[in-house]
Amino acid sequence: MDALTPAVADGAREQVAAEAARRRTFAIIAHPDAGKTTLTEKLLLRGGAIQLAGAVRAKGNARRTRSDWMKIEQDRGISVATSVMTFERDGLVFNLLDTPGHEDFSEDTYRTLTAVDAAVMVLDAAKGIESQTRKLFEVCRLRDIPIITFVNKMDREARDPFELIDEIETTLALDAAPVAWPVGRASEFAGTWDLLEKHFLPVDADDSGAIQLAGLDDPKLDALVGAARAAALREEAALAEAACPEFDLEAFRQGTLTPVFFGSALRDFGIGHLLDGLARYAPPPGARAGDPREVLPAEEKLTGFVFKIQANMDPNHRDRVAFVRLCSGRLVKGMRLKQVRTGKQVPVNAPLFFFAKDRQVAEEAWPGDVVGVANHGTLRIGDTLTEGEQLNFRGVPSFAPEILRHVRLEDPMLAKKLKTALDQLAEEGVVQLFRPLDGSLPVVGVVGQLQLDVLQSRLKVEYGVPAGFQDTIWSMMRWVTSDDRTALDRFAQTNRRDAGEDHDGALVAFFGSDWRRKRAEEEWPMLRFHAVREQH
Ligand code: G4P
Repeated sequence: MDALTPAVADGAREQVAAEAARRRTFAIIAHPDAGKTTLTEKLLLRGGAIQLAGAVRAKGNARRTRSDWMKIEQDRGISVATSVMTFERDGLVFNLLDTPGHEDFSEDTYRTLTAVDAAVMVLDAAKGIESQTRKLFEVCRLRDIPIITFVNKMDREARDPFELIDEIETTLALDAAPVAWPVGRASEFAGTWDLLEKHFLPVDADDSGAIQLAGLDDPKLDALVGAARAAALREEAALAEAACPEFDLEAFRQGTLTPVFFGSALRDFGIGHLLDGLARYAPPPGARAGDPREVLPAEEKLTGFVFKIQANMDPNHRDRVAFVRLCSGRLVKGMRLKQVRTGKQVPVNAPLFFFAKDRQVAEEAWPGDVVGVANHGTLRIGDTLTEGEQLNFRGVPSFAPEILRHVRLEDPMLAKKLKTALDQLAEEGVVQLFRPLDGSLPVVGVVGQLQLDVLQSRLKVEYGVPAGFQDTIWSMMRWVTSDDRTALDRFAQTNRRDAGEDHDGALVAFFGSDWRRKRAEEEWPMLRFHAVREQH
C-alpha cells in the first residue's frame, strides 16, 4: 500500500509524536440550557475563531424550534462547519467536537464521545446535575473519558458550592476536586480564588489579570474583595481543602476524579482558567484499543475511524461527509486509505480540514484531528481506515432505541425506492433500521421523536418517497448474542414475530414491556440481551 501514499519524511515518527502531543480533542456535555452554546462561543473567541462564533449562536437559537432546526439542518453548511471547531492557543491545537444539544439526538452525541479524549461537563450553578448531564456522563464513563467540570452561571443565584460538589460525588460516583473557589455569590460574585496557584482572579479581569497573593491570610485580600467576602472565602477554602479530594492528575486521567472550575460563560469569566485546565490536564491523543492490536498515536502509518456521517450540502448528489477521527500518523491530501470492513481503497482527494481561523491553509492533519471525507455512501459509522493494515478500532456504539415504528408507504410502487432510502439513512445514522423475521413492514428505531420528523422530511425531500409511521406493539429492543449458535437459532425460530435483524444482520428481539424483557432473560439464560452494541 506504500506506493499509493505520498512519501513520509525522515523523522516522521518524531513529527507525528510532537503534533499529537499538542492536540486536545474534547466535547462539551451539558443538559440543555446549562450554557454549552455560550461557552463554546467564548472558547472560540479565545482561539481567534470569531467568524465561527456567529454560526454557533445561530445554531443554538435555531435548535429551539423544530421547524427552524430542520431548515438549518437542511442548510448543511452550518452544521458541517460547526461539527468540529479547531482553534489554537499557546501552541496547542484544540479540537472541539460539537454534539447536538437536543436530547432527541443523543445517539449522535454518544458516538461523538467515542472520538474525544476528554470532556467538559457544564453545570448550571443553580441546578447542578440534571437528567441529560447524567446520561452523557454515563457514556463518558463507558470509556473512562476524563471530565473537567465547569460550574456555569456563577453571576446568578447559585447553589452552595459544597452542595454541588457533594452532588457530583454522590450522583456520579466521581471524586470532585475544586481547583477554583467562588468569592461572593450571585450579584456579589467577585471572582475566583485559585486553590492550586493561590491567586485571585477578579470577575472583570481578563485571563492575565490574576492577582498573586501571599496566601489567604494576605490582608490585600480584604482590600480586594471586602472584609465580609474575604472572611467567607477563608473559611470555605479551608473547609474545601480539608473536606474535598485534592486534585490528582492520575485519577483525573483514569476518569475517577474531576477538577471543578467555577465561572460565567455569559460574563466571559473563568474561560481562560478552564482552557488552562484543558491544556494542562486533558490528555493528548492516547493509545486506542483495536483488533488485533492497540494503536499508538505516534505511529507513522495513518489510522482513523468514522464516528459520524452527514449528508452533504447538495441533496441531488447524495454526497456524504464521513467524519474521521485520526488515531495515528499523518493525513495529507491525495492519500488512498483502506476501508478495513470491505477492503476497498478510499481516495481522500479533498479532505475537509476544520480549522476555524483559515480553512484553506490546512493541508495535513494529525492524531486527534477530525477530517471530513466526502464519499457516496461507501463509508459507514464505525469504519476503520488504515494505510493497508487489517485492523479495527472498537467502540463506536449503537444504543437500543426507545421508539419503534413501522414505516408505512403511501404509494406501494415506491417500495424499492423506500428500501434504498432507508438503507442509506440508516448508514448515515439518522435512524436504526430493523427487518422483522416474519417479513412484516420494516421497523425504524429512534431515540427521540424529532428523529422521526427528520426521517419523514428527508424521505420526501431527498428521495421523493412520502411515507408515514405506524405504531408497533413494542416499546424496546435488545441485541441478542450467544456462543451457543443453536440456542440463537431456536430463539429466532420461536420468536419470529418479535425478532428481527438490524442493518448489519445482527439478531434483535423486540419487547412490549420491560417485564417481558426480563421474562425472556430468565427463559433464555444462555443468551445475552444487550442495550448497547459496538459496531464491528
Ligand atoms: P445550551 O447551549 O446549553 O442550551 O445553553 P445556552 O448557551 O444557549 O444558554 C442558555 C441560556 O443561559 C441563555 O439565555 C444564555 O444566555 C444563558 N447563560 C449562559 N451562560 C450564562 C451565565 O454564565 N450566566 C447567566 N446569567 N446566563 C447564562 P437565554 O435567555 O435562554 O438565551 P439568549 O437569549 O441569551 O440566547
